[in-house]
Amino acid sequence: MASLTILSTTKPSSTLSSTPQESKFPAKSQRPFSSTVKFRATPFKVCAFPSNNNDNGAKDDCFSTRRSLLVCISTLPFLFGFHEMEDLSAKALQSDTNTYMLIREEVRKVLSKGKAAGVLRLVFHDAGTFEMDGNSGGMNGSIVYELERPENSGLKKSLKILDKAKGEVDAIQQVSWADMIAVAGAEAVSICGGPTIPVQLGRLDSLEPDAEGQLPQESLDAPGLKQSFERKGLSTQELVALSGAHTLGSKGFGSPFVFDNSYYKILLEKPWKSSGGMSSMVGLPSDHALVEDDECLRWIKKYADNQNMFFDDFKKAYIKLVNSGARWKSL
Ligand code: HEM
Repeated sequence: MASLTILSTTKPSSTLSSTPQESKFPAKSQRPFSSTVKFRATPFKVCAFPSNNNDNGAKDDCFSTRRSLLVCISTLPFLFGFHEMEDLSAKALQSDTNTYMLIREEVRKVLSKGKAAGVLRLVFHDAGTFEMDGNSGGMNGSIVYELERPENSGLKKSLKILDKAKGEVDAIQQVSWADMIAVAGAEAVSICGGPTIPVQLGRLDSLEPDAEGQLPQESLDAPGLKQSFERKGLSTQELVALSGAHTLGSKGFGSPFVFDNSYYKILLEKPWKSSGGMSSMVGLPSDHALVEDDECLRWIKKYADNQNMFFDDFKKAYIKLVNSGARWKSL
């Protein structure tokens, strides 16, 4: 596992410094929302590095942050000596790996193929609130405050499943909800036969809900979906690859428990008749909209033809998604 490494050069965002709101969830963790507070004095800001970022202000900010970070990292060996630095990073890496293994082990105890779809959906509903403009939302665990929102209906039970695992991990090593959900989503994909996705640890949790209305609605047409993803730093190709997550669950794209490229194959079989002949049962309006768009259709055809390419692109897009808007703990 690469890197938690992180030295800080930016101030905490206002969202992270706000007072937490009361939440009914989760019931079981001993210290449900305080786990990351002590780590978040000076978080490192991560940039999504979108391919077509017009927001020069944000970009410059990111680059100057990165530059300062590089300067810090490059001077550390002179301050501490190369051997101490090597020792330090080896220890950090080892502790990160141990925590990662622990989270995976506990997640696997509570996760079954039947629960995988809900857990993967949780990832999008936490991370998908990210907006580059204003650098708000993202993978920050704020979903725990947002479960009553209509778009999050049904997700309470998925979070409750993870709460048990989080309690076990917290008893040994405190973990943020953001890390927990990011790793659990990757495990959900993996146990259903999808790609193995490495997830970096060290995200901090927000202490308040994200702004409402940031997730794309299922009624959006392709231009609307593309714009929504673009605002999150995600390209059209990433929109199509990530939408392939709908291969899991009950929307009629092959087995609900198998992560494969049947989403794309079935999307090409317009008019999307289910085995019972009810076309309305297969897919969401947003899935159907992708086929109507030439650029999306090109990717749909590629992924329908080549599952390895889908797995590879899904993996990369997933990593980008779970790093979107994340604030990272310092060393
Ligand atoms: C492109 C925009 C998206 C829209 C409009 C959308 C919307 C929806 C809706 C309305 C459902 C049905 C929920 C229900 O049955 O109650 C759903 C299910 C699901 N979504 Fe999405 N979604 C989108 C993208 C994503 C992404 C990027 C992911 C993950 C990477 C994802 C993961 C899932 C999963 C796994 C399910 C199945 C959940 C289950 O059956 O329990 N979705 N989505």
